[in-house]
Amino acid sequence: MNVRFEPSRPLQGQLRAPADKSISHRAALLGAMASEPVRIENYLHAADTTSTLEAVRALGALVEMREHEIVVRGTGLREAREPDGPIDVGNAGTLLRLLPGWLAAQEGRSFTLDGDDSIRRRPVDRVAEPLRLMGAELKSRSGRFPPLQVRGARLRCISHELPIASAQVKSCVLLAALAADGATTIGEPARSRDHTERMLLRAGVNIHRNGRHVTVVNADELVLERVRVPGDLSSAAFMVAAGVLVPHSRLLIGDVGVNWTRTGFLRILRRMRGIVLGDLEDESGELSAHEPLSDLDVAHGALEGTVVEAEEVPLAIDELGLVALLGCFAEGETVVHGAQELRVKESDRIAGVVDGLRGLGGEIEATDDGFAVRGTGGLKGGTIDARGDHRLAMMGAVAGLASREGVEVVGMEAAAVSYPEFTADLARLCS
Ligand code: S3P
Repeated sequence: MNVRFEPSRPLQGQLRAPADKSISHRAALLGAMASEPVRIENYLHAADTTSTLEAVRALGALVEMREHEIVVRGTGLREAREPDGPIDVGNAGTLLRLLPGWLAAQEGRSFTLDGDDSIRRRPVDRVAEPLRLMGAELKSRSGRFPPLQVRGARLRCISHELPIASAQVKSCVLLAALAADGATTIGEPARSRDHTERMLLRAGVNIHRNGRHVTVVNADELVLERVRVPGDLSSAAFMVAAGVLVPHSRLLIGDVGVNWTRTGFLRILRRMRGIVLGDLEDESGELSAHEPLSDLDVAHGALEGTVVEAEEVPLAIDELGLVALLGCFAEGETVVHGAQELRVKESDRIAGVVDGLRGLGGEIEATDDGFAVRGTGGLKGGTIDARGDHRLAMMGAVAGLASREGVEVVGMEAAAVSYPEFTADLARLCS
């Protein structure tokens, strides 16, 4: 589906951010692993998180849809059912990487995970390696890609340093560790989002963090009566960028999750002199069970270029395309280092962002581990291909509103992966 986004008048008004995708996946998975029913309020109803509900149903959990919540009746930590056929994860990388952690603990049972064409290009060796160290058997296509087969086993605890900062891989090992034979410690090269740790703490698990290391003690059961999913900063970020870029805009975005491990984009944006006010969580040594919320008050601002270093990348990983877009409108250079992980997202997102913005008139170069943008004060416009990637589709739409001549997004339907109401919400704020 091709959709055109014309240069916009100022964006005005209020918006409630759609529910957080990462936290919805985790709530459904932990619900399925729990022994007692878990009520989830504000679950995200989008393609990716629907795949997770289907997956946990296939594994024996019951999912009841109620008007304002869903209720997941799980199987317990070690009693997932072996389904008849492969589990279809659709386009959901988070499901592909987290679920094997639980499956690895299902002694003697085998599972196959598969998904769409994009999923079949996403590496799974990163989760297979630590799970093998714990005792599970895993096989994948060419040793690296889905379909992924997991044969569960009695797991041992490990002490493991992750080679990449990935919340998905960290979470996978944490889920497996619940059924291991002692305490597991995972180190990451830089901090990544910690929603799994927070939810496990709430579920009564003995888990703590020490700098870049997390230690989790095995558990008999998870007890998590109720989860309320906050709004997704990664979805809200597209509206934030639109408000900052289109002159005279003023937006209030409500109910946004502002967990410190997710707000890297807002810190980068503040450095660029974008105007976003909110009550953001500060970094803290203590692991909290709480997911903080804030409203974000966004206004147009004249932007300056900035440099994003590797340490900051996992804290803004899904918003780096927007940093590139903002860089096109800023004064000076905007450079992102240490973001080679973008090559293995829903698309090769370095190529998608660089080719896409160049096609709209941006001066941007790809580097091995990111990109460099020379700000020229704006973008002409043109056509951009979403490449089946929801975040590229939404970036293209925002570029259109702020461009001189408008942008046609090829494949706008990809937005439904995380934000089905995106085009409608944007139209309302622009009207
Ligand atoms: C996610 C972690 C990140 C992020 C993805 C969601 C998660 O991936 O890009 O959209 O929910 O844990 P990586 O762990 O591969 O960096």
